[in-house]
Amino acid sequence: MLDGEYGEGYEIAMSVLVKLGEIYGADRMLKVENVHIDGAAYGWINDSGLELIEKLAASGVRFRVPATLNPSSIDFEMWRELKIPPKVARKQLKLAKALNEMGGTPTWTCAPYQYGADLRFGQKVAWGESNAVGYANTVVGARTERLGDLADVCAAVSGEYPNFGLYLDENRQGQILFEPDRLDVDTLHSTDYGVLGFIVGSIAKAKVPVVSGMPGKASTDQLKSFCAAAAVGGSVGLCHLCGITPEAKTVTEAFCGSKPEEKIVIDAGELEQARQKLSTVNEGPPEVICVGCPHCSVRELVKVACLIRGRRVEESMKFLVFTSRAAKTLGSEMGAVETIESSGGRVIADTCWNFIPSEARTLMTDSVKMAWTSLSKFTNVALGNLETCVDVAVGTKPNG
Ligand code: F3S
Repeated sequence: MLDGEYGEGYEIAMSVLVKLGEIYGADRMLKVENVHIDGAAYGWINDSGLELIEKLAASGVRFRVPATLNPSSIDFEMWRELKIPPKVARKQLKLAKALNEMGGTPTWTCAPYQYGADLRFGQKVAWGESNAVGYANTVVGARTERLGDLADVCAAVSGEYPNFGLYLDENRQGQILFEPDRLDVDTLHSTDYGVLGFIVGSIAKAKVPVVSGMPGKASTDQLKSFCAAAAVGGSVGLCHLCGITPEAKTVTEAFCGSKPEEKIVIDAGELEQARQKLSTVNEGPPEVICVGCPHCSVRELVKVACLIRGRRVEESMKFLVFTSRAAKTLGSEMGAVETIESSGGRVIADTCWNFIPSEARTLMTDSVKMAWTSLSKFTNVALGNLETCVDVAVGTKPNG
């Protein structure tokens, strides 16, 4: 492939990966079974990325392995209503066409592990999108390094990725032990899991954390929230949650028999402190309330519907729910989408809140990832669990 035998497109993709492998000291290329393409939004890869992908598609390049797609810059059905600039929509449609021609699976979601992707323990995959990388490594025990934009496209084109980072046993060994203390993990909400993940990520940075005492019955939504927050708190791509992560049934197994470099105890007080760090406002109504970062599952859509049924979103507020097209379709079948929308909320698919034009300066969210990454975009940010977000949206509870 590298010497152009399959054509220029494959040669370009392989030469990018070989260069990457040289930089990171990879000893060889690995075959990967599937890819999750982070750079599927025009808003992230801009004109230069669009040009490259269109060039590859036009030259006849096709993905060699299944490739799911991260959120795009638009909701393909509602972009006009959401006031996405037509120029952006046009370019996103061109990007979608090129990715489709190459064989991308149009999942348009940052939670491909809930709908669309095929993941198994021990499987080598090549994924972009930090929460998805964390989930694949942490919850399923698949193996992926953290891919950047366009490296993921090259991996899908070649079906290979250089063998470095989290593919290697030695880089998956636990380094720092976190011990929840007097923290009833059984009663934590998804948002609390996010706060816990954020604390772990901010201390571990790029090291591999191990968390003891996690309940094996944690839901996929709680774990999604944990992984997303751990990735933005630091740059955690793998966290051994003892009892959940398949390769870390015990603390000893997570550390491969070695001693932790450090032990950190996390109690309810630290959880509260971190929660406060993630909120800049405790009173006054937000202009916009967003849930679904990472994208809501069907179960979360149904939960929102149950919470909002028979209530009405305040006129002064927007209540936006972000999800995948697959979950929205299933949620529509179940009546959840209609319930949310007839109460004044909007269920937005295919895209990410980052791409929705908004003049709002005050935000409330149940997502630690959204709260942390939007602190610079909004004047005031409030973090609350899903129940509180809905209560605030319908005006039955003050913000916070
Ligand atoms: Fe998904 Fe956008 Fe959040 S890609 S994880 S909704 S920042």
